[in-house]
Amino acid sequence: MSEAGEDPIDPRAFRRAAGCFATGVSIVAAKDELGRRVGVTANSFVSVSLDPPLISVALARSLSSMPAFERASHFGISVLGEEQADCAMRFASRGADKWAGTPSAAGVCGAPLIRDAIATFECARYAMHDGGDHHILIGRVLKLTSAPSRRPLLFHAGAFATLSAPSQAPAALVGA
Ligand SMILES: Cc1cc2nc3c(=O)[nH]c(=O)nc-3n(C[C@H](O)[C@H](O)[C@H](O)COP(=O)(O)O)c2cc1C
Repeated sequence: MSEAGEDPIDPRAFRRAAGCFATGVSIVAAKDELGRRVGVTANSFVSVSLDPPLISVALARSLSSMPAFERASHFGISVLGEEQADCAMRFASRGADKWAGTPSAAGVCGAPLIRDAIATFECARYAMHDGGDHHILIGRVLKLTSAPSRRPLLFHAGAFATLSAPSQAPAALVGA
């Protein structure tokens, strides 16, 4: 819905501008009511709240796996390392058998996780909000793992990337 005086936003310009915001890459996964695993590559993962511990991910309404995500009580997020671009590609292809040949594990609540991910978040569904052509899925974190010394897979300007310089903590966070 556009407002009076608002310029129409060209979708390609929107993608180009959003792509300037470099992100990590994650696999969001759940099980459907028959116990079949679904999973999608997502760079929209963000942490939302510390207390309670909440994360969110924006999932396209058009995903073939959306009915499973709409019904699942739990889901898992696996943050990929720099050597896992092939996994990111596999889970970005619509309807493919993404799990064949993917080393995976079941989390405490049954949500599928990718083995060797650099961080995992096992979540109970907390809320699902309208996000235009996406749903914003919010999860309450029940269990997590992390290996911050491992290097992440990045996504920037429509392409995968890796960290090329040692990371530097902002002064405000040093010692926090
Ligand atoms: C790097 C990357 C990031 C993506 N991020 C998202 C995302 O945050 N949300 C989303 O709905 N789709 C995202 N996609 C597209 C989905 O991964 C893709 O449409 C999905 O795997 C299709 O799954 P389906 O078989 O359930 O339809 C991304 C794709 C790539 C390559």
